[in-house]
Amino acid sequence: MIVLKSADEIQLMREAGRVVAQAHALVRELIRPGLTTLDLDRAVDEFLLKQNAIPAFKGYQGYPASICASVNEVVVHGIPSKDVILQEGSIISVDIGAFVDGFCGDSAWTYPVGEVDPEVQSLLQTTEEALFEGIAQAKVGNRLSDISHAVQQRAEERGFSVVRDFVGHGIGRKMHEAPQIPNFGPPGRGPRLKTGMTLAIEPMVNMGSYHVQILNDNWTVVTRDNKWSAHFEHTIAITDEGPVILTIL
Ligand code: MF3
Ligand code: CO
Repeated sequence: MIVLKSADEIQLMREAGRVVAQAHALVRELIRPGLTTLDLDRAVDEFLLKQNAIPAFKGYQGYPASICASVNEVVVHGIPSKDVILQEGSIISVDIGAFVDGFCGDSAWTYPVGEVDPEVQSLLQTTEEALFEGIAQAKVGNRLSDISHAVQQRAEERGFSVVRDFVGHGIGRKMHEAPQIPNFGPPGRGPRLKTGMTLAIEPMVNMGSYHVQILNDNWTVVTRDNKWSAHFEHTIAITDEGPVILTIL
């Protein structure tokens, strides 16, 4: 069942979204060669608590940290570690979720560490564009898979592939609500989109094939071919005026 939110509830979700966006602004400033992914986790954790926000990931199905920090061939769910030191030319996806006043915001961004190769820059730009193509389809009267199809089209027209094994999701009082939102598929399928739906749209795009595997820590998702992957995510609300991004400042 897809839980529709009232205008007041969407207003509350904006607050959660804003705190997540602020945490991303902090991360963007901090990222540099030599920093560890654990440093980033500590900074975000401290920031969220100071804002009276509850980190959404910590303790979720036993997840041990407040952010996911996924470097290069890691697609999603990289666990922050003092042993993962950021290197010039790498990319890092930072995924942050937080509850404020009972509602959740969830957003991921992939950042370059210093200068990256042009084809890596293209991966980042394409994945970000794919997210915004998906968001543009999140309007009343469309169907859910119109989002999926738009994401896939942008990624594949640039020669990249979209991950099949992980999806976006509804979001609200829980981090994961119905519906699941695949990042591929034909348009015109699935539930009709309605005012009051709140969704986390999160394309994961690979430079090589779309196949992924989970490492022995039971969290870290990597590409099978070890080529690099990017991940961008916003929490949005569908309104009569169109899609509204909630995870912005
Ligand atoms: N953005 C991810 C998601 O929507 C983050 C979840 S990580 C977890 O599923 F550790 F909380 F599972
Ligand atoms: Co999410």
